[in-house]
Amino acid sequence: MWRWDAFLHASSADAVTLGEGNTPLLPAPALGLGDVWIKDESRNPTWSFKDRLGSGALTMAKKFGAKVIASSSSGNAGAAAAAYAAKAGIPCVVFTFVGSAGPLVLQMRAYGAMVVKVNDKADRWRLQSLGVKEFGWYPTSPFFGPVVGSNPYGMEGYKTIAYEVAEAFDWQPPDWCVLPVCYGDALYGMWKGFEDLKALGWIDRVPRFVAAEVSGSLTQGMASGDVAPPVVERNAPSIATSIGAAQATVQGLETLRRSRGLAVTIEDDDLRRWVVMLAAKEGIWPEASSAAPFAAIERLRADGTIKPHERCVALLTAAGLKDPGPIEQALPEPPLVSGGLPELLAGLKNAYGFVP
Ligand SMILES: Cc1ncc(COP(=O)(O)O)c(C=O)c1O
Repeated sequence: MWRWDAFLHASSADAVTLGEGNTPLLPAPALGLGDVWIKDESRNPTWSFKDRLGSGALTMAKKFGAKVIASSSSGNAGAAAAAYAAKAGIPCVVFTFVGSAGPLVLQMRAYGAMVVKVNDKADRWRLQSLGVKEFGWYPTSPFFGPVVGSNPYGMEGYKTIAYEVAEAFDWQPPDWCVLPVCYGDALYGMWKGFEDLKALGWIDRVPRFVAAEVSGSLTQGMASGDVAPPVVERNAPSIATSIGAAQATVQGLETLRRSRGLAVTIEDDDLRRWVVMLAAKEGIWPEASSAAPFAAIERLRADGTIKPHERCVALLTAAGLKDPGPIEQALPEPPLVSGGLPELLAGLKNAYGFVP
């Protein structure tokens, strides 16, 4: 992503980088959603879009001479912080909670982060704040409420997603960009990237943005007209644990308003269905949260908000192996076959309904 360093806060020579960015933008005709392209951020070094945040933030942490990195994260942001801290040679503490997906926590530990678990999600920010105030730990995630978003240098990294998309479409931006949203960091960063290009005259309009969320904070914020989106606690946890926070940010809401966009609240059944569909039809297995944009596009095409001729880019933010649980329940159990052809055929028919 540092080939865009003229738009960023440091030069490529100073960057803490693992080769993030330049991810593929793939057409997805088999989904039945019309003109939809997948910006596949699961191809990043730690298999999520948070590597752009990690690289942006750790580059400045190193410049500032940070002694310790601190992040509160149930997954991808913590994994990216851990990996980029390892690359920068700076110790990293990640606060996570007991319900986080096993592979994501393992990823943080593998990169050498000191992972600390808490029972209550609110304790993560309380403890991280203490580290920041008492010892000057360098924060890459939010650490106090009401949430203001992640490390601002990290968020700058998300602008490069817009530059890559605009370039890939020969500076003809798509009509809509649809993202899975938690705080709205990437939503805001990507929008800001398109605004940069418009200010330079490289593009003549900025796409409309859709936030696909599970809490409903931005959905309610858009309806209310308030400056800040509200705290919206769900009755039950979503399978999209990565986007489970109860409140999005002011700049996330502002992005929707300024781009004439909207928010859509997505339920678990739709997430599960779209994870399976993406993997089986397009060969890309997303984490459950990354299926949210596709459920949103489906709904907005059906109700006429997104017109049939309009082009959408869906940001597929992270890879399925990071949290495989949700899809496992939705797939047939592989048959155990011993014997010959009749047993094989019976197994294929019973498990998959397949008859050669
Ligand atoms: C896989 C995935 N998608 C989307 C998001 C939403 O991030 P943001 O805070 O940029 O809205 C997150 C993290 O929070 C995530 O881990």
